[in-house]
Amino acid sequence: MQKILDAILADELDAVGSLDVPESYRGVTVHEDEAEMFADVATKDKDPRRSLHLDDVPTPELGPGEALIAVMASAINYNTVWTSIFEPLSTFGFLRRYGRTSQLGRRHDLPYHVVGSDLSGVVLRTGVGVHAWKPGDEVVAHCLSVELEHPDGHNDTMLDPEQRIWGFETNFGGLAELALVKANQLMPKPKHLSWEESACPGLVNSTAYRQLVSRNGAGMKQGDTVLIWGASGGLGSYATQFALNGGATPVCVVSSPEKAEICRKMGAELIIDRAADGYRFWKDEHEQDPREWKRFGARIRELTGGDDPDIVFEHPGRETFGASVFVARKRGTIVTCASTSGFMHTFDNRYLWMNLKRIVGSHFANYREAWEANRLVARGRVHPTLSRVYPLEQTGQAANDVHHNTHQGKVGVLCLAPEEGLGVRDATTRERHLDAINRFRGV
Ligand SMILES: NC(=O)c1ccc[n+]([C@@H]2O[C@H](COP(=O)([O-])OP(=O)(O)OC[C@H]3O[C@@H](n4cnc5c(N)ncnc54)[C@H](OP(=O)(O)O)[C@@H]3O)[C@@H](O)[C@H]2O)c1
Repeated sequence: MQKILDAILADELDAVGSLDVPESYRGVTVHEDEAEMFADVATKDKDPRRSLHLDDVPTPELGPGEALIAVMASAINYNTVWTSIFEPLSTFGFLRRYGRTSQLGRRHDLPYHVVGSDLSGVVLRTGVGVHAWKPGDEVVAHCLSVELEHPDGHNDTMLDPEQRIWGFETNFGGLAELALVKANQLMPKPKHLSWEESACPGLVNSTAYRQLVSRNGAGMKQGDTVLIWGASGGLGSYATQFALNGGATPVCVVSSPEKAEICRKMGAELIIDRAADGYRFWKDEHEQDPREWKRFGARIRELTGGDDPDIVFEHPGRETFGASVFVARKRGTIVTCASTSGFMHTFDNRYLWMNLKRIVGSHFANYREAWEANRLVARGRVHPTLSRVYPLEQTGQAANDVHHNTHQGKVGVLCLAPEEGLGVRDATTRERHLDAINRFRGV
């Protein structure tokens, strides 16, 4: 591994393809025999630092259409939090199901799961049938793994019946020194960014792009008012940038003055501190409080000068969904990709049908959407929202930060990269965007 790293650090990328691939590598794993370890523990007390391990694992065999990547950096996504606390399900069920599909799928069904759905790095080897990428290429990877053997996915690759999120529903993910991906997941690494900066947007940027911008999601247009929950978090920090870039007006919901300040730095003007305003959408565990929805809606109107949101960018789920349906404007869209606070949502359907609103489900992004989202980063139109970077050994702590919402934007992880700041190829473009690139740092 050291020889590979030395070649990358010395910019001898042409040599990478002729170096031996190590038989094993270090990867962050959960263990199947620990899937019950938090059985009687409350969700908030389930500790990723206990369940995430750094193990030496065998290098998987490379299949047709695949690529083996030397991972320089990765990032924490909420799916790694879900995997590490074994909620709502243990991910070993996904691996078993994948294992039943084919001989190549079987490689993924192991008693350990190497997690992680983002990476930046260098191609080490490519499998049979890969012509667009070669060893030595500097890449990032999106996390859509599809087989594409079924016509359902041919128009929109997210509709493939064998659609999986790499590093969550497949093994050999990005929080590791090596990763196995399908070559179609690869995209050029943005040249003006470091390894850790370029690794962090992938999953959330692509997801927010489909959810908010794409016609497969809310299809945002100029002039729209967009209510964004968690506007300084992983998804929200990209949704806010898309809204501002696309001529919409974001109304950013956050939970602290520091997070409000980050949104202001991104260029947002309308901000709601949900903690300071003290909204209690639920009276108790069973009943919501429509007066609180109304108070929230009145605050939005106060900020917008009377407009209700054309689009509500939803992901907190149970706690906020009733309010989201209520505050969307007549004919507005509530677009949801997650349920962090609980997936059984309730809302007052009278507000939905009488006001002709729509609820749209969205999940990750298809190949094209992921490519377009990465192109925006590569062109310096959307910027990474990296706040903090941990070494691979401290991935458990990094996931714990996200689990407890003590982070801002994205939390990065150095895999093979020995330090931050390496891998920049275009210093001129970087210089032009330096303030924006560093906006989330050290907050
Ligand atoms: N379907 C997909 O493809 C997909 C892709 C990415 C993520 N996700 C899911 O989306 C969710 C968010 O991911 P993320 O990366 O954005 O996570 P994140 O970085 O933790 O950001 C989420 C933000 O939501 C806000 N929030 C959390 N709980 C809330 C609540 N009960 N009420 C109101 N706001 C709340 C918090 O902001 P404030 O405290 O500042 O309000 C938090 O910073 C996760 O469940 C993740 O698994 C799904």
